[in-house]
Amino acid sequence: MTVTPDELARAAAALRAGALVAFPTETVYGLGADASSPDALRRLYAVKGRPADHPVIVHLPSVEAVAKWAVDVSEVALRLAVACWPGPLTLVLRRGPGVLDAVTGGQDTVALRVPDQPVALQLLREFDGAIAAPSANRFGRVSPTTAEDVRAELGDDVAVVLDGGPSRVGVESTIVDCTRAPLRVLRLGGITREHLESIVGEGVETIADAADDVRAPGTLASHYAPRARVRVVHGTGVITTVEEELAAGNRVGVILADNGSVSRSLQVSILGEPCGAAEYAHDLYRMLRAADEQHLDVVVAIAPFDDGGLSSAVIDRLERAAAPRPAVDGT
Ligand code: TXA
Ligand code: MG
Repeated sequence: MTVTPDELARAAAALRAGALVAFPTETVYGLGADASSPDALRRLYAVKGRPADHPVIVHLPSVEAVAKWAVDVSEVALRLAVACWPGPLTLVLRRGPGVLDAVTGGQDTVALRVPDQPVALQLLREFDGAIAAPSANRFGRVSPTTAEDVRAELGDDVAVVLDGGPSRVGVESTIVDCTRAPLRVLRLGGITREHLESIVGEGVETIADAADDVRAPGTLASHYAPRARVRVVHGTGVITTVEEELAAGNRVGVILADNGSVSRSLQVSILGEPCGAAEYAHDLYRMLRAADEQHLDVVVAIAPFDDGGLSSAVIDRLERAAAPRPAVDGT
């Protein structure tokens, strides 16, 4: 799937005019705005329905552009950038002097990444600036991984939707706070903890190990949630859970994984049968969206076997989708 030079030029012009452009990345689709324009950022927050004090990720065309956005970049942060970019890794760094509060949510740090998707990189080069982009869903909902899902979610609120085909990874980037030692993973994602540790040469913390609170919506307990309720089953127990929901009169969807299976005689909708963590990540948000399209009441998801790696990110997203929802939801 490619976009034409005309479409790219139109998208870059829209960004320059302060409009919003949805574009593909290797993780999920982003809702982009000129990261240097207060007006464009206001529009972005309005469409997204996101509280003003929640920061967004700034997408850059290359490692070299970091110098414009961040200061005091440590040697180890630079090493991660060089090793993983373009790629599904977001680095939280000390913000540079000109960075707008609307981008950082007023914090003294800024989140940066270079996406590994040809259309995204072409757009960044054509625009010749930095693009602030949260995932192209309304606040709290499931991230879109196809251009059709973006259109269904945002409709006319977005000037241009660039179609780069389905996102390759399917879950968001890994976010690493590089302003502290040891480094801390704020959100699990496309780059595994093991991979980070092999580059850094020592252990990294995850937010689960951390006592203090960090303001990152992707870390809210309830997040990435479809309208249908989600129940996660680890290992056995899927049949009991499905039968319980059917007995309560609910329309049930099932995500099968690994060795889990359900009898063909049960009245359920099989949302998918991903084989391995990479396929699970790739298909996850599409399956959750399909559950809503089919007006299901509940999704019973068999969690992938947790062997670290990408399966940790999938389990993290499933648990957030399944978490009880507060009245005011949190991206
Ligand atoms: O894969 C991705 O990262 C996608 C694609 C479009 O690049 N973007 C994405 O953006 O997931 P969003 O806005 O849905 O999630 C960004 C996360 C949020 O949890 C936000 O709080 C966190 O990044 N974040 C942004 N700036 C931060 C900062 N300065 N400190 C800590 N967390 C930050
Ligand atoms: Mg998001």
